[in-house]
Amino acid sequence: MKYVDLIKARRSVRTFDKLPIDSEITDQLLYFAENCDNPFGKEIKWKILDGDEFGLSAPVIVGSDIYIAGKMKMEARAEEAFGYSFEKVVLYAKELGIGTTWIAGTMNRPAFEIAMNVGEDEVMPCVSPLGKCAAKMSFRESMMRSAIKADSRLPFEELFFENSFGEHLKEATLEKIKLPLEMVRLAPSAVNRQPWRIVVIGNKAHFYEKKSKGFVDRDGWDIQKIDMGIALCHFDLVATEMGLKTSIIDDNPFISTPEDTVYCATIVFD
Ligand SMILES: Cc1cc2nc3c(=O)[nH]c(=O)nc-3n(C[C@H](O)[C@H](O)[C@H](O)COP(=O)(O)O)c2cc1C
Repeated sequence: MKYVDLIKARRSVRTFDKLPIDSEITDQLLYFAENCDNPFGKEIKWKILDGDEFGLSAPVIVGSDIYIAGKMKMEARAEEAFGYSFEKVVLYAKELGIGTTWIAGTMNRPAFEIAMNVGEDEVMPCVSPLGKCAAKMSFRESMMRSAIKADSRLPFEELFFENSFGEHLKEATLEKIKLPLEMVRLAPSAVNRQPWRIVVIGNKAHFYEKKSKGFVDRDGWDIQKIDMGIALCHFDLVATEMGLKTSIIDDNPFISTPEDTVYCATIVFD
């Protein structure tokens, strides 16, 4: 399947059909994850975890006891790198017919961290259950989806701009990169906050994070930067699929920004 189709078809799956997944499939997913690069060159160590073996639980998840998790060094750009790589793994799982849900909060984290053998200088940002999607969502899952409006996204015009945060995208730009932008819009994000904003200047898409309150912890770890990594991933994969050449660089244009909005990274497209 094309990335565009995978991105459109993906949604968080929290109710699984209880059937075990073939170990060939989890092996394939793990192999993909271990060979999955990210534009920030950060190494991520991956494991497939058996919930029974390690006493793992994630309260909103029903019908699956197998997880994929990644850990890495806690350092600058770790969040964006993790977001980029984990989303590639999520999309590959979709390709294999496996449902996933990004989970950063709703899990018994200490048990997962023991299972992952997370060291002092390391972080295990998120995990995901793995399994075949059940025919019907649990009541809890549908309640959760409606509480966070998981099926809706902010309007295109509120997210994407040209030259400054006050100007809409021009026709010529839309012709070139409307699809990658639409695929950014569909991305998953923590509590569906969709922090990504993009200002296009020439052939550069400058990504900004519109920060919501309460997403940065005492150590400066910012979950919404993971969302930014996911947004970079979607744009990059889809633009490349369309035949554009892309590179992800640090190139802050220092334009005036709205409140709580900070520069993240730039994708050059040609
Ligand atoms: C970084 C990140 C962390 C998330 N953490 C959780 C979580 O702890 N529990 C959960 O049920 N969903 C979690 N989600 C899933 C989001 O709630 C979900 O992606 C969003 O509501 C959009 O719904 P969709 O994925 O079905 O499109 C997380 C998503 C991201 C990207």
